[in-house]
Amino acid sequence: YMHKDIPEGLKQLPGPKPLPIIGNVLEVGNNPHLSLTAMSERYGSVYQIQIGMRPVVVLSGIETLRQALIKQGEDFAGRPDLYSFKFINDGKSLAFSPDKAGVWRARRKLALSALRTFSTLEGTCPEYACALEEHVCKEGEYLVKQLSSVMDADGSFDPFRHIVVSVANVICGMCFGRRYGHDDKELLGLVNMSDEFGQVAGSGNPADFIPFLRYLPSSTITKFMDINKRFNTFVQRIVNEHYDSYDKNNIRDITDSLIDHCEDRKLDENSNVQLSDEKIVSIVNDLFGAGFDTISTALSWSLLYLVAYPDIQDRLHQELKEKVGLNRTPRLSDKPNLPRLEAFILELFRHSSFLPFTIPHCTTKDTSLSGYFIPKDTCVFINQWQVNHDPELWKDPSTFNPDRFLTSDGSDLNKLEGEKVMTFGIGKRRCIGEVIGRNEVYLFLAILLQRLHFQKKPGHAVDMTPEYGLTMKHKRCQLKASLRTWGQEE
Ligand code: HEM
Repeated sequence: YMHKDIPEGLKQLPGPKPLPIIGNVLEVGNNPHLSLTAMSERYGSVYQIQIGMRPVVVLSGIETLRQALIKQGEDFAGRPDLYSFKFINDGKSLAFSPDKAGVWRARRKLALSALRTFSTLEGTCPEYACALEEHVCKEGEYLVKQLSSVMDADGSFDPFRHIVVSVANVICGMCFGRRYGHDDKELLGLVNMSDEFGQVAGSGNPADFIPFLRYLPSSTITKFMDINKRFNTFVQRIVNEHYDSYDKNNIRDITDSLIDHCEDRKLDENSNVQLSDEKIVSIVNDLFGAGFDTISTALSWSLLYLVAYPDIQDRLHQELKEKVGLNRTPRLSDKPNLPRLEAFILELFRHSSFLPFTIPHCTTKDTSLSGYFIPKDTCVFINQWQVNHDPELWKDPSTFNPDRFLTSDGSDLNKLEGEKVMTFGIGKRRCIGEVIGRNEVYLFLAILLQRLHFQKKPGHAVDMTPEYGLTMKHKRCQLKASLRTWGQEE
Protein backbone atom coordinates (compact mmCIF):
# COMPACT_ATOMS: atom_id res chain seq x y z
CA TYR A 1 0.00 0.00 0.00
CA MET A 2 1.10 3.57 -0.47
CA HIS A 3 1.68 5.88 2.38
CA LYS A 4 1.92 9.62 2.30
CA ASP A 5 5.24 11.27 2.83
CA ILE A 6 5.73 11.93 6.49
CA PRO A 7 6.10 15.66 7.23
CA GLU A 8 9.40 16.75 8.70
CA GLY A 9 9.72 16.36 12.45
CA LEU A 10 7.07 13.62 12.66
CA LYS A 11 7.70 9.90 13.05
CA GLN A 12 6.19 6.92 11.30
CA LEU A 13 3.70 4.93 13.43
CA PRO A 14 5.07 1.78 15.11
CA GLY A 15 3.25 -1.53 14.84
CA PRO A 16 3.46 -5.19 13.82
CA LYS A 17 4.60 -6.09 10.32
CA PRO A 18 1.60 -6.82 8.08
CA LEU A 19 1.30 -9.87 5.82
CA PRO A 20 0.31 -9.28 2.20
CA ILE A 21 -3.47 -9.03 1.57
CA ILE A 22 -4.64 -9.96 5.08
CA GLY A 23 -2.41 -7.58 7.01
CA ASN A 24 -2.47 -8.34 10.75
CA VAL A 25 -5.83 -10.15 10.84
CA LEU A 26 -4.28 -13.29 12.33
CA GLU A 27 -2.65 -11.44 15.24
CA VAL A 28 -5.88 -9.51 15.92
CA GLY A 29 -7.83 -12.78 16.12
CA ASN A 30 -11.22 -13.34 17.73
CA ASN A 31 -10.68 -11.22 20.83
CA PRO A 32 -9.37 -7.88 19.57
CA HIS A 33 -9.81 -6.26 23.01
CA LEU A 34 -7.19 -8.67 24.38
CA SER A 35 -4.84 -8.82 21.38
CA LEU A 36 -4.85 -5.05 20.80
CA THR A 37 -4.29 -4.43 24.52
CA ALA A 38 -1.31 -6.80 24.47
CA MET A 39 0.06 -4.95 21.40
CA SER A 40 -0.21 -1.63 23.26
CA GLU A 41 2.19 -3.02 25.86
CA ARG A 42 4.67 -3.70 23.09
CA TYR A 43 4.17 -0.70 20.76
CA GLY A 44 2.79 1.99 23.08
CA SER A 45 -0.50 3.91 23.26
CA VAL A 46 -0.40 5.00 19.58
CA TYR A 47 0.33 2.33 16.99
CA GLN A 48 -0.80 1.09 13.62
CA ILE A 49 -2.02 -2.28 12.44
CA GLN A 50 -3.27 -3.29 9.05
CA ILE A 51 -6.60 -5.08 8.60
CA GLY A 52 -6.60 -6.36 5.08
CA MET A 53 -5.04 -3.58 3.04
CA ARG A 54 -6.35 -0.84 5.29
CA PRO A 55 -4.20 0.82 7.95
CA VAL A 56 -5.93 1.27 11.31
CA VAL A 57 -4.53 3.36 14.16
CA VAL A 58 -5.19 1.92 17.61
CA LEU A 59 -5.29 4.32 20.58
CA SER A 60 -5.20 3.39 24.24
CA GLY A 61 -4.05 4.94 27.54
CA ILE A 62 -6.30 7.47 29.23
CA GLU A 63 -4.01 10.45 28.54
CA THR A 64 -3.63 9.58 24.84
CA LEU A 65 -7.42 9.24 24.51
CA ARG A 66 -7.97 12.60 26.21
CA GLN A 67 -5.40 14.23 23.93
CA ALA A 68 -6.93 12.78 20.74
CA LEU A 69 -10.65 12.93 21.52
CA ILE A 70 -10.84 16.10 23.62
CA LYS A 71 -7.83 18.35 22.94
CA GLN A 72 -7.66 17.41 19.23
CA GLY A 73 -11.34 16.47 19.13
CA GLU A 74 -12.12 17.89 15.66
CA ASP A 75 -9.29 15.90 14.05
CA PHE A 76 -10.61 12.57 15.36
CA ALA A 77 -14.39 13.15 15.21
CA GLY A 78 -15.10 11.40 11.87
CA ARG A 79 -16.50 7.95 11.14
CA PRO A 80 -14.86 5.61 8.60
CA ASP A 81 -16.72 4.51 5.51
CA LEU A 82 -17.02 0.82 6.46
CA TYR A 83 -18.86 -1.83 4.48
CA SER A 84 -21.10 -3.04 7.32
CA PHE A 85 -22.12 0.51 8.31
CA LYS A 86 -23.89 0.94 4.96
CA PHE A 87 -26.60 -1.47 6.12
CA ILE A 88 -27.28 0.26 9.43
CA ASN A 89 -30.33 2.52 9.22
CA ASP A 90 -30.09 2.34 5.38
CA GLY A 91 -26.74 4.15 5.52
CA LYS A 92 -28.39 7.15 7.18
CA SER A 93 -27.32 6.44 10.75
CA LEU A 94 -26.33 9.34 12.98
CA ALA A 95 -23.89 7.15 14.91
CA PHE A 96 -22.39 5.04 12.10
CA SER A 97 -22.58 6.97 8.82
CA PRO A 98 -19.63 9.01 7.52
CA ASP A 99 -21.77 12.20 7.43
CA LYS A 100 -19.87 15.46 6.87
CA ALA A 101 -19.12 17.36 10.08
CA GLY A 102 -21.85 19.99 9.60
CA VAL A 103 -24.62 17.47 8.90
CA TRP A 104 -23.55 15.18 11.76
CA ARG A 105 -23.39 18.11 14.20
CA ALA A 106 -26.87 19.36 13.26
CA ARG A 107 -28.36 15.87 13.64
CA ARG A 108 -26.61 15.25 16.93
CA LYS A 109 -28.01 18.51 18.31
CA LEU A 110 -31.54 17.55 17.25
CA ALA A 111 -31.18 14.08 18.77
CA LEU A 112 -29.93 15.50 22.08
CA SER A 113 -32.75 17.98 22.36
CA ALA A 114 -35.46 15.42 21.47
CA LEU A 115 -34.01 12.96 24.00
CA ARG A 116 -33.89 15.54 26.75
CA THR A 117 -37.50 16.64 26.17
CA PHE A 118 -38.89 13.11 26.32
CA SER A 119 -36.70 11.56 29.01
CA THR A 120 -35.16 13.73 31.68
CA LEU A 121 -37.23 16.92 31.61
CA GLU A 122 -39.96 17.16 34.23
CA GLY A 123 -42.93 15.15 32.99
CA THR A 124 -46.64 15.84 33.03
CA CYS A 125 -47.31 13.25 35.70
CA PRO A 126 -46.59 14.84 39.10
CA GLU A 127 -45.99 11.46 40.71
CA TYR A 128 -42.67 11.07 38.82
CA ALA A 129 -39.65 13.38 38.45
CA CYS A 130 -39.43 12.77 34.67
CA ALA A 131 -40.66 10.50 31.87
CA LEU A 132 -37.62 8.24 32.21
CA GLU A 133 -38.37 7.61 35.88
CA GLU A 134 -42.01 6.87 35.13
CA HIS A 135 -41.18 4.39 32.34
CA VAL A 136 -38.44 2.59 34.31
CA CYS A 137 -40.46 2.34 37.54
CA LYS A 138 -43.43 0.85 35.69
CA GLU A 139 -41.35 -1.52 33.55
CA GLY A 140 -39.20 -2.49 36.55
CA GLU A 141 -42.23 -3.43 38.64
CA TYR A 142 -43.64 -5.34 35.67
CA LEU A 143 -40.31 -7.16 35.20
CA VAL A 144 -40.31 -8.30 38.83
CA LYS A 145 -43.78 -9.83 38.31
CA GLN A 146 -42.75 -11.35 35.00
CA LEU A 147 -39.61 -12.98 36.45
CA SER A 148 -41.44 -14.42 39.41
CA SER A 149 -44.18 -15.85 37.22
CA VAL A 150 -41.57 -17.42 34.89
CA MET A 151 -39.91 -18.87 38.03
CA ASP A 152 -43.23 -20.35 39.12
CA ALA A 153 -43.79 -21.91 35.71
CA ASP A 154 -40.27 -23.01 34.69
CA GLY A 155 -38.07 -22.91 37.82
CA SER A 156 -35.44 -20.72 36.11
CA PHE A 157 -35.18 -17.89 33.57
CA ASP A 158 -32.93 -16.53 30.81
CA PRO A 159 -31.96 -13.04 32.04
CA PHE A 160 -31.30 -11.35 28.69
CA ARG A 161 -34.57 -12.61 27.17
CA HIS A 162 -36.73 -10.77 29.72
CA ILE A 163 -34.59 -7.74 30.51
CA VAL A 164 -34.35 -6.78 26.84
CA VAL A 165 -38.15 -6.50 26.52
CA SER A 166 -38.43 -4.24 29.58
CA VAL A 167 -35.57 -2.03 28.42
CA ALA A 168 -36.93 -1.88 24.84
CA ASN A 169 -40.28 -0.79 26.29
CA VAL A 170 -38.65 2.18 28.05
CA ILE A 171 -37.08 3.50 24.85
CA CYS A 172 -40.22 2.58 22.85
CA GLY A 173 -42.22 4.67 25.29
CA MET A 174 -40.01 7.71 24.75
CA CYS A 175 -39.54 7.28 20.98
CA PHE A 176 -42.95 5.94 19.93
CA GLY A 177 -45.30 6.30 22.90
CA ARG A 178 -46.04 2.58 23.09
CA ARG A 179 -45.12 -0.61 24.92
CA TYR A 180 -45.17 -4.32 24.06
CA GLY A 181 -46.02 -7.48 25.98
CA HIS A 182 -43.23 -9.86 27.07
CA ASP A 183 -44.46 -12.38 24.51
CA ASP A 184 -44.91 -10.01 21.57
CA LYS A 185 -43.48 -11.97 18.63
CA GLU A 186 -42.46 -9.00 16.51
CA LEU A 187 -40.58 -7.17 19.26
CA LEU A 188 -38.92 -10.38 20.49
CA GLY A 189 -37.78 -11.20 16.96
CA LEU A 190 -36.08 -7.80 16.76
CA VAL A 191 -34.53 -7.42 20.16
CA ASN A 192 -33.29 -10.96 20.58
CA MET A 193 -31.19 -10.70 17.43
CA SER A 194 -28.98 -7.92 18.70
CA ASP A 195 -26.13 -10.41 19.35
CA GLU A 196 -25.52 -10.80 15.64
CA PHE A 197 -25.73 -7.05 15.14
CA GLY A 198 -22.92 -6.47 17.59
CA GLN A 199 -20.73 -9.22 16.16
CA VAL A 200 -20.61 -7.54 12.75
CA ALA A 201 -20.57 -3.91 13.89
CA GLY A 202 -17.72 -4.42 16.42
CA SER A 203 -14.28 -2.95 15.73
CA GLY A 204 -12.11 -5.16 13.56
CA ASN A 205 -14.68 -7.26 11.69
CA PRO A 206 -12.46 -8.52 8.82
CA ALA A 207 -15.25 -8.20 6.18
CA ASP A 208 -15.16 -4.45 6.73
CA PHE A 209 -11.56 -4.32 5.64
CA ILE A 210 -10.97 -7.24 3.28
CA PRO A 211 -13.22 -6.83 0.25
CA PHE A 212 -13.24 -10.44 -1.00
CA LEU A 213 -14.59 -11.72 2.34
CA ARG A 214 -17.86 -9.94 1.57
CA TYR A 215 -18.50 -12.29 -1.32
CA LEU A 216 -18.06 -15.50 0.64
CA PRO A 217 -21.32 -16.95 1.92
CA SER A 218 -21.29 -15.76 5.50
CA SER A 219 -24.23 -16.47 7.72
CA THR A 220 -23.23 -13.64 10.08
CA ILE A 221 -23.24 -10.97 7.38
CA THR A 222 -26.50 -12.27 5.92
CA LYS A 223 -28.11 -12.21 9.36
CA PHE A 224 -26.73 -8.73 9.92
CA MET A 225 -28.36 -7.44 6.74
CA ASP A 226 -31.58 -9.19 7.72
CA ILE A 227 -31.64 -7.67 11.23
CA ASN A 228 -31.08 -4.20 9.83
CA LYS A 229 -33.85 -4.68 7.29
CA ARG A 230 -36.32 -5.94 9.90
CA PHE A 231 -35.35 -3.15 12.23
CA ASN A 232 -35.86 -0.45 9.60
CA THR A 233 -39.20 -1.92 8.49
CA PHE A 234 -40.40 -2.02 12.10
CA VAL A 235 -39.46 1.62 12.73
CA GLN A 236 -40.68 2.81 9.32
CA ARG A 237 -44.16 1.43 9.95
CA ILE A 238 -44.41 3.21 13.29
CA VAL A 239 -43.08 6.43 11.73
CA ASN A 240 -45.73 6.25 8.97
CA GLU A 241 -48.44 5.83 11.58
CA HIS A 242 -47.07 8.91 13.33
CA TYR A 243 -47.21 10.95 10.11
CA ASP A 244 -50.87 9.88 9.68
CA SER A 245 -51.94 10.90 13.16
CA TYR A 246 -49.53 13.84 13.61
CA ASP A 247 -50.98 16.94 15.29
CA LYS A 248 -48.65 19.87 15.77
CA ASN A 249 -50.53 20.95 18.89
CA ASN A 250 -49.99 17.58 20.54
CA ILE A 251 -46.38 16.35 20.24
CA ARG A 252 -46.63 12.91 21.82
CA ASP A 253 -43.10 11.51 21.65
CA ILE A 254 -39.64 11.78 20.04
CA THR A 255 -40.94 10.71 16.61
CA ASP A 256 -43.56 13.49 16.66
CA SER A 257 -40.97 16.03 17.76
CA LEU A 258 -38.68 15.11 14.85
CA ILE A 259 -41.59 15.34 12.37
CA ASP A 260 -42.40 18.69 13.93
CA HIS A 261 -38.84 19.81 13.35
CA CYS A 262 -39.12 19.02 9.61
CA GLU A 263 -42.14 21.36 9.45
CA ASP A 264 -40.36 24.10 11.41
CA ARG A 265 -37.25 23.92 9.30
CA LYS A 266 -39.24 24.53 6.11
CA LEU A 267 -40.17 27.90 7.63
CA ASP A 268 -36.61 28.64 8.70
CA GLU A 269 -34.85 30.08 5.61
CA ASN A 270 -31.68 30.87 7.53
CA SER A 271 -30.66 27.41 8.72
CA ASN A 272 -27.16 26.93 7.35
CA VAL A 273 -27.17 23.13 6.99
CA GLN A 274 -30.00 21.60 4.99
CA LEU A 275 -31.08 18.24 6.37
CA SER A 276 -33.57 16.15 4.41
CA ASP A 277 -36.74 15.01 6.20
CA GLU A 278 -35.38 11.47 6.03
CA LYS A 279 -32.13 12.45 7.74
CA ILE A 280 -34.17 14.07 10.50
CA VAL A 281 -36.82 11.42 11.10
CA SER A 282 -34.35 8.50 10.81
CA ILE A 283 -32.65 9.82 13.96
CA VAL A 284 -35.31 7.87 15.84
CA ASN A 285 -33.84 4.59 14.45
CA ASP A 286 -30.52 5.42 16.09
CA LEU A 287 -32.08 6.34 19.41
CA PHE A 288 -34.21 3.22 19.52
CA GLY A 289 -31.31 0.94 18.46
CA ALA A 290 -28.75 2.47 20.82
CA GLY A 291 -31.28 2.67 23.61
CA PHE A 292 -32.06 -1.00 24.18
CA ASP A 293 -29.02 -3.11 23.32
CA THR A 294 -26.48 -1.28 25.48
CA ILE A 295 -28.67 -1.06 28.56
CA SER A 296 -30.01 -4.63 28.35
CA THR A 297 -26.46 -5.92 28.00
CA ALA A 298 -25.38 -3.95 31.08
CA LEU A 299 -28.31 -5.24 33.15
CA SER A 300 -27.95 -8.82 32.02
CA TRP A 301 -24.23 -8.79 32.97
CA SER A 302 -25.24 -7.26 36.32
CA LEU A 303 -27.35 -10.30 37.20
CA LEU A 304 -24.43 -12.60 36.37
CA TYR A 305 -22.11 -10.64 38.65
CA LEU A 306 -24.75 -10.66 41.40
CA VAL A 307 -25.04 -14.45 41.36
CA ALA A 308 -21.27 -14.85 41.04
CA TYR A 309 -20.75 -12.60 44.11
CA PRO A 310 -23.63 -13.40 46.51
CA ASP A 311 -22.06 -11.42 49.40
CA ILE A 312 -22.04 -8.28 47.26
CA GLN A 313 -25.67 -8.92 46.33
CA ASP A 314 -26.66 -9.22 49.99
CA ARG A 315 -24.88 -5.98 50.89
CA LEU A 316 -26.64 -4.15 48.04
CA HIS A 317 -30.02 -5.42 49.22
CA GLN A 318 -29.12 -4.37 52.76
CA GLU A 319 -28.24 -0.86 51.58
CA LEU A 320 -31.62 -0.56 49.83
CA LYS A 321 -33.44 -1.86 52.88
CA GLU A 322 -31.74 0.74 55.11
CA LYS A 323 -31.83 3.76 52.80
CA VAL A 324 -35.07 3.25 50.87
CA GLY A 325 -36.96 0.66 52.85
CA LEU A 326 -38.88 -2.23 51.36
CA ASN A 327 -42.33 -0.74 50.99
CA ARG A 328 -41.90 1.80 48.21
CA THR A 329 -40.28 1.69 44.77
CA PRO A 330 -36.78 3.26 44.62
CA ARG A 331 -36.52 6.56 42.71
CA LEU A 332 -33.82 8.50 40.88
CA SER A 333 -33.61 10.82 43.89
CA ASP A 334 -32.45 7.89 46.08
CA LYS A 335 -29.25 7.52 44.04
CA PRO A 336 -27.02 9.79 46.18
CA ASN A 337 -27.97 7.67 49.21
CA LEU A 338 -26.94 4.41 47.57
CA PRO A 339 -23.13 4.64 47.10
CA ARG A 340 -22.67 0.84 47.20
CA LEU A 341 -25.03 0.41 44.29
CA GLU A 342 -23.27 3.15 42.32
CA ALA A 343 -19.90 1.57 43.08
CA PHE A 344 -21.23 -1.79 41.86
CA ILE A 345 -22.36 -0.22 38.56
CA LEU A 346 -19.00 1.49 38.03
CA GLU A 347 -17.17 -1.77 38.70
CA LEU A 348 -19.53 -3.57 36.32
CA PHE A 349 -18.72 -1.03 33.59
CA ARG A 350 -14.99 -1.28 34.31
CA HIS A 351 -14.58 -5.01 34.83
CA SER A 352 -16.87 -6.23 32.02
CA SER A 353 -15.97 -3.37 29.65
CA PHE A 354 -18.85 -4.74 27.59
CA LEU A 355 -18.30 -1.93 25.07
CA PRO A 356 -14.59 -2.74 24.59
CA PHE A 357 -14.03 -0.27 21.75
CA THR A 358 -16.10 2.78 20.89
CA ILE A 359 -17.68 2.88 17.43
CA PRO A 360 -14.64 3.27 15.10
CA HIS A 361 -13.47 6.85 14.52
CA CYS A 362 -11.77 8.40 11.50
CA THR A 363 -9.41 11.35 11.13
CA THR A 364 -10.98 14.38 9.43
CA LYS A 365 -7.61 15.86 8.34
CA ASP A 366 -3.86 15.13 8.39
CA THR A 367 -2.86 15.23 12.04
CA SER A 368 -0.33 13.94 14.54
CA LEU A 369 -0.33 12.38 17.97
CA SER A 370 2.65 11.84 20.32
CA GLY A 371 4.90 12.89 17.43
CA TYR A 372 3.48 10.30 14.99
CA PHE A 373 1.97 11.34 11.65
CA ILE A 374 -1.64 10.21 11.02
CA PRO A 375 -3.06 11.04 7.57
CA LYS A 376 -6.63 12.22 6.86
CA ASP A 377 -9.28 9.47 6.54
CA THR A 378 -7.40 6.97 8.71
CA CYS A 379 -9.63 4.56 10.63
CA VAL A 380 -9.02 4.81 14.39
CA PHE A 381 -9.95 2.25 17.08
CA ILE A 382 -10.41 3.55 20.65
CA ASN A 383 -9.55 0.83 23.18
CA GLN A 384 -11.79 1.40 26.22
CA TRP A 385 -11.05 -2.10 27.55
CA GLN A 386 -7.34 -1.24 27.86
CA VAL A 387 -8.06 1.87 29.96
CA ASN A 388 -10.36 -0.11 32.25
CA HIS A 389 -7.72 -2.80 32.81
CA ASP A 390 -4.58 -0.65 32.82
CA PRO A 391 -2.39 -1.68 35.79
CA GLU A 392 -1.07 1.90 35.85
CA LEU A 393 -4.59 3.10 36.73
CA TRP A 394 -6.06 0.25 38.77
CA LYS A 395 -4.88 -2.00 41.57
CA ASP A 396 -5.52 -5.67 40.66
CA PRO A 397 -7.45 -4.74 37.49
CA SER A 398 -8.75 -8.27 36.89
CA THR A 399 -10.39 -8.49 40.34
CA PHE A 400 -14.09 -7.58 40.58
CA ASN A 401 -14.13 -5.26 43.58
CA PRO A 402 -16.79 -2.51 43.77
CA ASP A 403 -15.20 -1.20 47.00
CA ARG A 404 -12.40 0.35 44.93
CA PHE A 405 -14.92 3.14 44.14
CA LEU A 406 -15.80 3.88 47.78
CA THR A 407 -14.00 6.18 50.20
CA SER A 408 -11.88 4.37 52.78
CA ASP A 409 -14.66 4.16 55.39
CA GLY A 410 -17.02 2.80 52.72
CA SER A 411 -19.70 5.43 53.30
CA ASP A 412 -19.31 7.49 50.14
CA LEU A 413 -18.47 7.31 46.47
CA ASN A 414 -14.93 8.26 45.36
CA LYS A 415 -15.89 10.45 42.39
CA LEU A 416 -12.36 10.79 40.96
CA GLU A 417 -11.92 7.02 40.71
CA GLY A 418 -15.28 6.79 38.93
CA GLU A 419 -14.21 9.28 36.28
CA LYS A 420 -11.39 6.97 35.14
CA VAL A 421 -13.87 4.34 33.93
CA MET A 422 -14.23 4.51 30.14
CA THR A 423 -17.68 3.29 29.01
CA PHE A 424 -19.45 6.01 27.01
CA GLY A 425 -16.48 7.34 25.03
CA ILE A 426 -15.23 10.90 25.54
CA GLY A 427 -15.08 14.10 23.48
CA LYS A 428 -17.15 15.14 20.48
CA ARG A 429 -18.50 11.67 19.66
CA ARG A 430 -19.24 10.65 23.23
CA CYS A 431 -22.54 8.89 23.81
CA ILE A 432 -25.56 11.20 23.84
CA GLY A 433 -27.51 8.73 25.99
CA GLU A 434 -25.04 8.69 28.89
CA VAL A 435 -27.34 10.29 31.48
CA ILE A 436 -30.24 8.07 30.43
CA GLY A 437 -27.97 5.02 30.36
CA ARG A 438 -26.55 5.57 33.84
CA ASN A 439 -29.93 6.43 35.35
CA GLU A 440 -31.71 3.55 33.72
CA VAL A 441 -29.16 0.92 34.75
CA TYR A 442 -29.25 2.32 38.30
CA LEU A 443 -33.04 2.40 38.62
CA PHE A 444 -33.74 -1.02 37.10
CA LEU A 445 -31.07 -2.55 39.35
CA ALA A 446 -32.39 -0.81 42.46
CA ILE A 447 -35.89 -2.16 41.78
CA LEU A 448 -34.67 -5.70 41.02
CA LEU A 449 -32.32 -5.85 44.03
CA GLN A 450 -34.98 -4.56 46.40
CA ARG A 451 -37.55 -7.18 45.42
CA LEU A 452 -35.66 -10.24 44.18
CA HIS A 453 -32.87 -12.51 45.29
CA PHE A 454 -30.88 -13.96 42.37
CA GLN A 455 -29.06 -17.27 42.40
CA LYS A 456 -27.29 -19.72 40.13
CA LYS A 457 -29.33 -22.63 38.91
CA PRO A 458 -27.88 -25.67 40.72
CA GLY A 459 -25.80 -27.77 38.35
CA HIS A 460 -25.52 -24.92 35.82
CA ALA A 461 -22.14 -23.19 35.73
CA VAL A 462 -22.34 -19.49 34.85
CA ASP A 463 -19.83 -18.73 32.11
CA MET A 464 -18.54 -15.15 32.37
CA THR A 465 -16.36 -15.28 29.24
CA PRO A 466 -17.53 -12.46 26.96
CA GLU A 467 -18.23 -13.00 23.27
CA TYR A 468 -16.53 -10.23 21.31
CA GLY A 469 -18.64 -7.62 19.52
CA LEU A 470 -19.60 -3.94 19.54
CA THR A 471 -21.30 -4.82 22.81
CA MET A 472 -19.86 -7.99 24.32
CA LYS A 473 -22.51 -10.43 25.52
CA HIS A 474 -22.29 -13.28 27.99
CA LYS A 475 -23.43 -16.69 26.80
CA ARG A 476 -27.15 -17.26 27.29
CA CYS A 477 -27.80 -18.96 30.64
CA GLN A 478 -30.48 -19.86 33.20
CA LEU A 479 -30.70 -18.19 36.63
CA LYS A 480 -33.07 -18.43 39.58
CA ALA A 481 -34.85 -15.61 41.37
CA SER A 482 -37.05 -15.58 44.45
CA LEU A 483 -39.15 -12.78 45.87
CA ARG A 484 -37.69 -11.13 48.96
CA THR A 485 -40.33 -10.78 51.65
CA TRP A 486 -40.43 -9.10 55.03
CA GLY A 487 -40.15 -12.40 56.84
CA GLN A 488 -37.29 -13.79 54.81
CA GLU A 489 -34.44 -11.54 55.97
CA GLU A 490 -31.08 -13.16 56.55
C1 HEM B 1 -22.51 6.46 21.01
C2 HEM B 1 -21.97 3.74 25.02
C3 HEM B 1 -26.72 4.17 25.95
C4 HEM B 1 -27.25 6.89 21.98
C5 HEM B 1 -21.97 5.67 22.01
C6 HEM B 1 -20.58 5.27 22.08
C7 HEM B 1 -20.43 4.52 23.20
C8 HEM B 1 -21.71 4.44 23.85
C9 HEM B 1 -19.13 3.88 23.69
C10 HEM B 1 -19.51 5.58 21.01
C11 HEM B 1 -18.65 6.75 21.39
C12 HEM B 1 -17.59 6.99 20.35
O1 HEM B 1 -17.73 6.57 19.19
O2 HEM B 1 -16.56 7.59 20.69
C13 HEM B 1 -23.22 3.59 25.60
C14 HEM B 1 -23.49 2.83 26.80
C15 HEM B 1 -24.83 2.95 27.07
C16 HEM B 1 -25.39 3.79 26.03
C17 HEM B 1 -22.44 2.03 27.59
C18 HEM B 1 -25.66 2.37 28.19
C19 HEM B 1 -25.23 1.81 29.28
C20 HEM B 1 -27.26 4.97 24.98
C21 HEM B 1 -28.65 5.40 24.95
C22 HEM B 1 -28.79 6.17 23.82
C23 HEM B 1 -27.50 6.22 23.16
C24 HEM B 1 -29.70 5.06 26.00
C25 HEM B 1 -30.00 6.88 23.27
C26 HEM B 1 -31.21 6.78 23.68
C27 HEM B 1 -26.01 6.98 21.36
C28 HEM B 1 -25.79 7.65 20.08
C29 HEM B 1 -24.40 7.54 19.81
C30 HEM B 1 -23.83 6.79 20.92
C31 HEM B 1 -26.84 8.33 19.20
C32 HEM B 1 -23.66 8.09 18.59
C33 HEM B 1 -23.06 9.44 18.90
C34 HEM B 1 -22.30 10.03 17.71
O3 HEM B 1 -21.83 9.27 16.85
O4 HEM B 1 -22.18 11.27 17.65
N1 HEM B 1 -22.62 5.17 23.11
N2 HEM B 1 -24.39 4.14 25.16
N3 HEM B 1 -26.60 5.49 23.89
N4 HEM B 1 -24.82 6.48 21.84
FE1 HEM B 1 -24.59 5.40 23.54
